[in-house]
Amino acid sequence: MTAQLNARGDVAVLVPAAGAGVRLGPGGPKALRLLAGEPLLVHAIRRVAAAASVRMIVVAAPAAEVEAVRELLAPVAPVTVVAGGAERQESVSLALAAVPAEIEVVLVHDAARALTPPQLIESVAAAVRQGHPAVIPVLPVVDTIKEVGPGDTVLGTVDRSVLRSVQTPQGFRHDVLTEVHASADDALTDDAGLVEKAGLPVTCVPGSELALKITRPLDLVLAEALLHVR
Ligand code: CTP
Ligand code: MG
Repeated sequence: MTAQLNARGDVAVLVPAAGAGVRLGPGGPKALRLLAGEPLLVHAIRRVAAAASVRMIVVAAPAAEVEAVRELLAPVAPVTVVAGGAERQESVSLALAAVPAEIEVVLVHDAARALTPPQLIESVAAAVRQGHPAVIPVLPVVDTIKEVGPGDTVLGTVDRSVLRSVQTPQGFRHDVLTEVHASADDALTDDAGLVEKAGLPVTCVPGSELALKITRPLDLVLAEALLHVR
């Protein structure tokens, strides 16, 4: 059954899904790879559509797959599908261009984080609504982190207590995200990085282990196991 979005919601969610999935190995664009029989993108969109304040979803699909992605998602939720770009940041910019000005909160969420719970989407949106211009979900770093120099020699141990692993969705005031994307000169791996460079505060909220990014083959195995214990 097609999910309904909230016509009175104040949130647009951009879902960059145009990556090749090189680290996952051969098998086509990552967003279309199967997890428990369904494409990762379907898992991701179903959870985004279940978040109560989402009014609009924009997917950036691989350019050759725009029509296929429209058909794939039509039974899942109402989504706008645009062609993505060569870099993630370009895919985000292209999706952002489809969001009307009256939407105040924009979240950017990787299709690869296919199991992200709707509650995390809501908690990021709520923090933006409370007045934070940029919000990121984070987890503590569990491994000991070393800085390594030439010849694989350890230079030192980094103080882990001040480090965080960053997830998506990352949330922004619409005007802030538009501004930093318009003036971005070099590509970063996340959108909050653009806000940092612009000198605005970025605020952390607790992330979720379920929001893991499916990157390497082992992550698919883990995600499938998580679906079954859910
Ligand atoms: N993405 C995108 N457009 C790109 C590159 C990435 O929309 N040109 C999206 C991916 O589809 C993914 C998210 O950005 O949902 C995070 O990127 P990543 O996990 O790196 O996915 P891929 O780039 O597909 O994987 P890889 O780097 O292993 O090729
Ligand atoms: Mg990538």
